[in-house]
Amino acid sequence: MRTSIKLVLTSVVVAFLAVQWTTPRLNAESLKGARVLVTGASTGIGEQIAYHYARSNAQIVITARREHVLQQVAEKCLSLGAQKAVYIAADMANETDPDEVVNFALDKLGGLDYLVLNHIGSSPFSMWDGDLEHTRWLMKVNFFSYIQMAWKALTSLEESKGSLVVVSSLLGKMPSPFVAPYTSTKFALNGFFGALQHELAMKKSNVSISIVTLGLIDTESAMDKVRGITSVPAYPAEEAALNIIVAGATRQSEAFYPWFTHIAAATREWFPSITNYFVRTSYSYTP
Ligand SMILES: NC(=O)c1ccc[n+]([C@@H]2O[C@H](COP(=O)([O-])OP(=O)(O)OC[C@H]3O[C@@H](n4cnc5c(N)ncnc54)[C@H](OP(=O)(O)O)[C@@H]3O)[C@@H](O)[C@H]2O)c1
Repeated sequence: MRTSIKLVLTSVVVAFLAVQWTTPRLNAESLKGARVLVTGASTGIGEQIAYHYARSNAQIVITARREHVLQQVAEKCLSLGAQKAVYIAADMANETDPDEVVNFALDKLGGLDYLVLNHIGSSPFSMWDGDLEHTRWLMKVNFFSYIQMAWKALTSLEESKGSLVVVSSLLGKMPSPFVAPYTSTKFALNGFFGALQHELAMKKSNVSISIVTLGLIDTESAMDKVRGITSVPAYPAEEAALNIIVAGATRQSEAFYPWFTHIAAATREWFPSITNYFVRTSYSYTP
């Protein structure tokens, strides 16, 4: 047990230093005029992603379901410096909407340099109750629409030497209680886009895929779920958004924010029993 703890601590320090030394820095100039499509951009991390691109004078298409909110976000993007900011309302549970959104972006921007897949459907924070219908729906929104949009945008990204950015979660590497359907969608994303990374590299494709693993972030929807249930610290959405953009712009295949999510994911692989113990005891739950 003692050796395990020493090993964990040493790994934490080594990984922290490795992350500090090897994380590429963003050249904001490179984003000037970039043609970007951001999903789930009406609120939360997606909204912050749109604002960062806007400050770098990018051309942006944003999407989510609520048109009136998208309109406000697009207006703010223009006031922050976006060269262009347009929106399209779409429901990613609908079979045709993912294609329509990509077509809209290609039409408005004349191509794509970045596709940032970030949206998620709402799901309860509770023990699995056998609701298959909800899980099927969530798979459509959080997984199938991602692969549909990625496929539709691939030709344009190939032409522009572009980047596909997939926003994932620590819960896509480390199963956690109360979120079985959500965790499943994130594991599916990691598996699919991990395989696609190999295939694109083997085909010598121009397109980079960045899979970004996030820990707990202080968005309203996340905080509403975990308030009073966990003591895990939440990190700012604005900083998470910046890390996502940097991952895409610097073509990192994997990125982690905050940095210790990298350690948490590795620790789960190396020491599953200890990690499971910490996961289960990090929640206030009485049966
Ligand atoms: N916050 C965290 O703690 C955390 C941790 C790890 C990973 N992440 C990941 O970070 C990303 C963003 O999370 P967030 O906390 O910012 O989420 P959020 O605040 O709940 O925002 C979700 C976005 O998706 C849109 N959306 C919801 N249902 C949709 C549907 N059926 N079709 C199209 N768009 C839909 C929402 O807008 P409308 O309601 O207008 O449609 C909203 O813009 C997600 O991929 C999430 O898994 C977050």
